[in-house]
Amino acid sequence: EKAGFEHFMMKEIHEQPKAIRDTINSVVRDGKIDLSGVGITEEEIQKLQQIYIVACGSAYHVGVAAQYVIEELAQIPVRVELASEFRYRRMLFAPNSLVIIVSQSGETADSLAALREAKAHGVKTLAIVNVVGSTIAREADHVFYTLAGPEIAVATTKAYSTQLIASYILSIEFARVRGMIDEDRAAELIAELQTIPDKIEKLLEDKERIQWFAAKQMNAQNMFFIGRGIDYAVSLEGSLKMKEISYIHSEAYAAGELKHGTISLIEPGTLVIGVLTQQDLYEKTVSNMVECKSRGAYLMALTTYGNYSIEDCAEFVIYIPKTDPLFAASLAVIPLQLMGYYVSVAKGLDVDKPRNLAKSVTVE
Ligand code: F6R
Repeated sequence: EKAGFEHFMMKEIHEQPKAIRDTINSVVRDGKIDLSGVGITEEEIQKLQQIYIVACGSAYHVGVAAQYVIEELAQIPVRVELASEFRYRRMLFAPNSLVIIVSQSGETADSLAALREAKAHGVKTLAIVNVVGSTIAREADHVFYTLAGPEIAVATTKAYSTQLIASYILSIEFARVRGMIDEDRAAELIAELQTIPDKIEKLLEDKERIQWFAAKQMNAQNMFFIGRGIDYAVSLEGSLKMKEISYIHSEAYAAGELKHGTISLIEPGTLVIGVLTQQDLYEKTVSNMVECKSRGAYLMALTTYGNYSIEDCAEFVIYIPKTDPLFAASLAVIPLQLMGYYVSVAKGLDVDKPRNLAKSVTVE
């Protein structure tokens, strides 16, 4: 059932290209996006004034990335909220709001409660869900199914990746319908999306190098993941993967925020992983990495092919294939999933069933 892999997590990491292809193919026909199955109409899209993305854990990290993509492409203001916070806040919805709930299981208690709160306030809801017929899928006004297939490992990988893809597709279509991008640009972005599975396959070919590096980190006490913009969203997910399955404390920080307190935790040898896929923010994050290095940090970098100057400061570099910067999270997350996995394996831990965690959190 693990198809020759040692753990479900590794099997599911390798299923990502197919899961993404399936998800794209479910809503793209002849190079065009068709959301009729999701049920949201062009009229609804045109009226949108505010989007809330509400979720927990990794699904929340998808929201953090999606916020940048939606605002950049569709130019609709987005707020990303943790479901467990959102549901207890005073609900001050802007007119013509849309609440997007992101959930693999479709049963997460706080995400479900947030959906019900939004509906009780008369706000339209759209769920990005993996499990067909789950409670969130049944109760939302519109459903965008991710086609990741069953995810067994507690730490999400392929569901997260398909949720990202769903959010890009919504962003492109919202932007096109609202006239923020023309048909050609939409077609170009869709074509770029279709290259992502092959690029992930290419990244997976490099996994032994990551295994070698990860094994050397197994005794680490602390790690930091830093980035800006979409790279910050990826840092959040990379850090969560690391702590949940390898039991190493790690923090994800917006790169520019470290110096406001957290940098005091950097000691000689502390691993700092910089994520640098956003070209316009590259120099800024490099300078934050150099600040860490001058306090003794050991630097790993994840950046796009071509940014070879990173080797002037980083000790270990992973290059990711070029794609549209808006979609870079889909590639940058892969080496970080592998890092968490291989550190966990090196420590001899139960990768698929980490302590204290359940696959679906149905209590608040
Ligand atoms: C982390 C992880 C969790 C889930 C979170 C939400 O690897 O899997 O953080 O993302 O519990 O679960 P769903 O998506 O089922 O609502």
